Amino acid sequence: MYVCICATTAKPEFGSATKNGAYSKETLGDTCGASTGCGNCQNAGDDPVATLPF
Ligand code: FES
Repeated sequence: MYVCICATTAKPEFGSATKNGAYSKETLGDTCGASTGCGNCQNAGDDPVATLPF
């Protein structure tokens, strides 16, 4: 399952990035590519991305 369709970032890849301290849009983008496109993954309802502070 992809968390970020734009960057084709899968949920495990995303989880690994956040576990390693990627809690901003910029660090997520640098680490796994998520949040670098349309931004829809930042408002994904129950998705963990929605809990991030951006
Ligand atoms: S779905 Fe993540 S930036 Fe588009």
